[in-house]
Amino acid sequence: VGIRAADEAGIEAAVGALRQGQLIGLPTETVYGLAADATDPAAVARIYAAKGRPQFNPLISHVPDLAAAETHGIFNAAALALAQAFWPGPLTLVVPRRPTSPVAELACAGLATIALRAPAHPVAQAVLRAFGNPLAAPSANLSGRLSPTTAADVVAELGDRIALALEGGAARVGLESSIVACVEGAPRLLRPGGVSREALEAVVGRLAAPGAGIEAPGMLASHYAPRAKLRLDAVSPLPGEAFLAFGPTAAAGALNLSPTGDLTEAAANLYAFLRRLDAQGPAMIAVAPIPYAGLGEAIRDRLVRAAAPRP
Ligand code: TXA
Ligand code: MG
Repeated sequence: VGIRAADEAGIEAAVGALRQGQLIGLPTETVYGLAADATDPAAVARIYAAKGRPQFNPLISHVPDLAAAETHGIFNAAALALAQAFWPGPLTLVVPRRPTSPVAELACAGLATIALRAPAHPVAQAVLRAFGNPLAAPSANLSGRLSPTTAADVVAELGDRIALALEGGAARVGLESSIVACVEGAPRLLRPGGVSREALEAVVGRLAAPGAGIEAPGMLASHYAPRAKLRLDAVSPLPGEAFLAFGPTAAAGALNLSPTGDLTEAAANLYAFLRRLDAQGPAMIAVAPIPYAGLGEAIRDRLVRAAAPRP
């Protein structure tokens, strides 16, 4: 299956496929999504099948804007403030689900809450507005693998399971959305992501930690993994290791997430560079220390999960 230009004909073809319950590769500013009509249970089931994903992982429902989101979820003051500050953009809000929402139970894994995101990418916006229904879309990779940041990545991994992938360029953010639950009590950061903790807390105050137990399967210990093993906080590579550098002091010639030490640039490059190193077939990828500030929290979160022992 091929990549389609996201011109009028491409958008129309994507909407036609979605109407028939098929899956498409959808560019967003975070990572590419594997999208289906969130109101069609059979189409949602096809997402789980295509990814080889455990059935109980709930999916994010993508909508064009806050007005559309409010038809599916109940927004408290914190959720409204966050949506107004960061939508459209790389933020997902988990809120109580409206009983009248037509989103399939399966997309919410039977939970009383729903995850909603209004993506900023113009192609995602065009598809959402032309289609009219919310789109359930996890990242367009096989379960447990690196998220795709280009249309070519999507086709390489899932090309035989989708109707088409729309071309949307390299994902600008490069990391999944931040997930904040606004259900009861203080908002909780379920997954660090494309909006930094500092930026979120400037709007709603201190974020609580996620509760006990796995609330978001992105929180499984091993996730977002390349084939190679990872060694973190490596100052330099050992013989035989591939090296992923960061910052101005890093080894010359190594693949560098950001030679200037810019964490936003590093986030945008993370998955693509891990894929590139992984393609060389090393047993181990050594990764330079990444500071914790800003998007560093999300980058470190993904690296720690990628480095964890595999199930
Ligand atoms: O940037 C992103 O968020 C990308 C793009 C495509 O939008 N999507 C993405 O989806 O990362 P996925 O399925 O890989 O991750 C969605 C996360 C999962 O960890 C899931 O458990 C969590 O959202 N989630 C969904 N509904 C939830 C709910 N009701 N309560 C708690 N977590 C929820
Ligand atoms: Mg994912």
